[in-house]
Amino acid sequence: MNTEVFNAKTQKENGTQYAGRVIRAGGLVAFPTETVYGLGANGLDGEAVERIFEAKGRPQDNPLILHVAKKSDVKDLWRHVPDCAKRLMDAFWPGPLTLIFVKSDIVPDEVTAGLDTVAVRMPEHKTALALIRAAGVPIAAPSANLSGRPSPTTAEHVLQDMDGRIDVVLDGGACEVGVESTVLTLVGRPTILRPGGITREMLEQVIGPVEVSPAVLRPLKEGEVAASPGMKHRHYAPDAEVIVAVGNPRKIASIICREYEIEEAMGKNCVVLGTEQTRSCYHGMNCDIIGDREEPGSLCRELFAALRRWSGRVDVIFAEGVEEADQGLAYMNRLLRAAGFTVLDE
Ligand code: TXA
Ligand code: MG
Repeated sequence: MNTEVFNAKTQKENGTQYAGRVIRAGGLVAFPTETVYGLGANGLDGEAVERIFEAKGRPQDNPLILHVAKKSDVKDLWRHVPDCAKRLMDAFWPGPLTLIFVKSDIVPDEVTAGLDTVAVRMPEHKTALALIRAAGVPIAAPSANLSGRPSPTTAEHVLQDMDGRIDVVLDGGACEVGVESTVLTLVGRPTILRPGGITREMLEQVIGPVEVSPAVLRPLKEGEVAASPGMKHRHYAPDAEVIVAVGNPRKIASIICREYEIEEAMGKNCVVLGTEQTRSCYHGMNCDIIGDREEPGSLCRELFAALRRWSGRVDVIFAEGVEEADQGLAYMNRLLRAAGFTVLDE
């Protein structure tokens, strides 16, 4: 299959109209959102949705998010719209918040992996909204990476994984948030299944107490059922070992310096994903400054790109843990998974 690439700015009209027709015809289109690039298909067409799973090599039991272009579209996709959902949509849509509720009959089982709930989100990115409108249907879309790899935050990343496997890529430049949307289930007590750009603190201001699924920051225990099937699969893994150091910044830097030396002595190539605060600690070492510890959003924006940048080029990637609050929770959730939960704290 030949993958066509359109620049979402210079070929705006042609690109999105053409891609909308491809979606309607059952094809696959990768498109930018404010979080990461999505791999879209017609969300009401079970066969088209199956092609997403094939292209990604995605486990069949992992459900997809339906993307809509206006809030009122959820009425058709959910059995009804609960009051707290209305308040959350008014506060955070369009934006990086995915809401889960009981599905209606028009949602195919291929989207929900057989669950009776469906995840819906209205993205903020103009190209994403234009594509959904052009397609005229809700678009089912996971992140546009091969299953298990870091999510793509540029069209270049999408092509690394998907060239020749999908019909179209809309290139809209780099994604602003850099990690996937917050996933919140409204079935039972509101619970964050995956942290993201809309933080627990922000959600609680609108609907009161919000729980965080325990699987967000630790691996599932044997026999434990995942609230979100996506949490049990290996994720975000580059072709290199990832090691996370935790503690205060000085302690983190000293752990990394020590371990880096040990790995290097064993002949391993290493890189440190450092921060503005620890820049001066990694003298003479291979260091890639990815953001500011005081602004965990800056770390979120760069994490996946940095993992891809060093994938296959080094043996070991060291990264710094941050406080698990605000956007730091999303950062740690992705980083710990990329590391297979390998943590050093002395
Ligand atoms: O920002 C995002 O959310 C991106 C962009 C493209 O919108 N999409 C994305 O999709 O990250 P994906 O498929 O990579 O992640 C969807 C997550 C998975 O962890 C999945 O298990 C969970 O949402 N999920 C989807 N439907 C669910 C459901 N009905 N119940 C529980 N978890 C669900
Ligand atoms: Mg994904």
